[in-house]
Amino acid sequence: MEIIKNVKGTHDIYGEENNAYEMVENLMKSVAELYAYHGVRPPVLESNSVFVRGVGSSSDIVRKEMYTFKDHGDRDITLRPEFTAGIMRMVVQNKLYATNELPLKLYYLGPVFRYERPQLGRYRQFNQFGVECIGHASYMQDVDVIAMAYTILTSLGLDGVTIKINTLGDDESRNNYREALKSYFAKHIRNMCEDCKTRFELNPLRILDCKVPEDRPYIDNAPVINDYLSESSKERFSKVLNALETLQIPYEIDSSLVRGLDYYSETVFEFHYKSKKGIDYGAVGAGGHYGKLMSELGGPDYPGVGFSFGIERVVSVLKDDELLENIKDELDAYVMPLGEESNLYAEEIAVFLRNSGGYRVDVCADNCKMGAMFKRASTKGAKYALIVGETEVNEQTVVIKDLQTQEQNKVKVEELVTKFDELFNSSKEEE
Ligand code: HAM
Repeated sequence: MEIIKNVKGTHDIYGEENNAYEMVENLMKSVAELYAYHGVRPPVLESNSVFVRGVGSSSDIVRKEMYTFKDHGDRDITLRPEFTAGIMRMVVQNKLYATNELPLKLYYLGPVFRYERPQLGRYRQFNQFGVECIGHASYMQDVDVIAMAYTILTSLGLDGVTIKINTLGDDESRNNYREALKSYFAKHIRNMCEDCKTRFELNPLRILDCKVPEDRPYIDNAPVINDYLSESSKERFSKVLNALETLQIPYEIDSSLVRGLDYYSETVFEFHYKSKKGIDYGAVGAGGHYGKLMSELGGPDYPGVGFSFGIERVVSVLKDDELLENIKDELDAYVMPLGEESNLYAEEIAVFLRNSGGYRVDVCADNCKMGAMFKRASTKGAKYALIVGETEVNEQTVVIKDLQTQEQNKVKVEELVTKFDELFNSSKEEE
């Protein structure tokens, strides 16, 4: 029978790769906790309008990339293409802004779905980790969020991350800029792609997201936002940059950075990293400040700032730079019963070492031959084999065999955890 394959643009994650995902995600969560953030889990399914109103009807995501369908109750449902709008829907609906001290500091992790053309670093189902800091307009929140993202990337071992940063200004700045773009593109739009013609009608700012090479010269010569910034937006941006300098966080101003989601205002940024193999997977993460997202979704007018990392891209650059090498899928011990009569005792020992000692232990449950058990222990990367036969059951002892030096010791079962603590502490000291 023909085998069924995964859906185009999705991928299976298992084995060592899964360990890498877990390691990266755990590190991201622990840094977010250091920065006083709390985890949240919004649903994958949202009403279509969350993203139409939140991300914006002129964005590529809403126009072309959403997985939207009618459910059996004739509702328009969308598989989330990003987290930020869904988080804001959750905050507004549950009035989290009223029942908690502001700013709300939330982190999240999970799959998102976009119908994009699959290519290197680009999937239709991928995983994001991100944070949203909601409720304060201060530029310092932008700085704190960028500092957290930078800490995460450097803690993962990525040296030489480029932070591209720009400002989209306040409403006044963007309105003036939009007008300027409208009159500039009015002269060129008939020569540009069909998509840009639609963008011109909906929101000329989105023309800047166009990837069609023939349109590039028109876009490269378009007015830049800097010339349309209000005084207060200019001042806010320069405060952000000063603070980054004080914190020794390197950045590059990129005046063409506008981000493809409509909710942004003021600071926007992207994190880029070219792996040592020279491969560019696209931004490993991105984010920015948003002023009106909460009110677009029916809540009060609180601003926010956040970022999301694409876990697939982060894992890819770590893999290329061999930074995942220290994540090994090793066992501390493999318990080997020498016959049916010692099976239960072997299981007891495994449970005892896991629960009382916190050691990573597996146990042979199918009574295979001694040689086969040693082979398994070595495939699983176990440091010690714990051998138990009838004698050990009667004596309530365990034979510990160091699988590197082949040294053997017999210990009483009640001394097992203490013995393991000694063995592991002395091997740590040797390292
Ligand atoms: P975004 O730039 O659309 O922003 O996505 C964030 C990150 O997700 C990207 O930098 C990239 O690493 C990853 N990513 C995006 N598309 C794909 C794809 N097709 N395949 C693999 N990875 C991908 C947002 O989603 C905003 N919600 C970020 C944010 C949070 N802004 C404020 N708060």
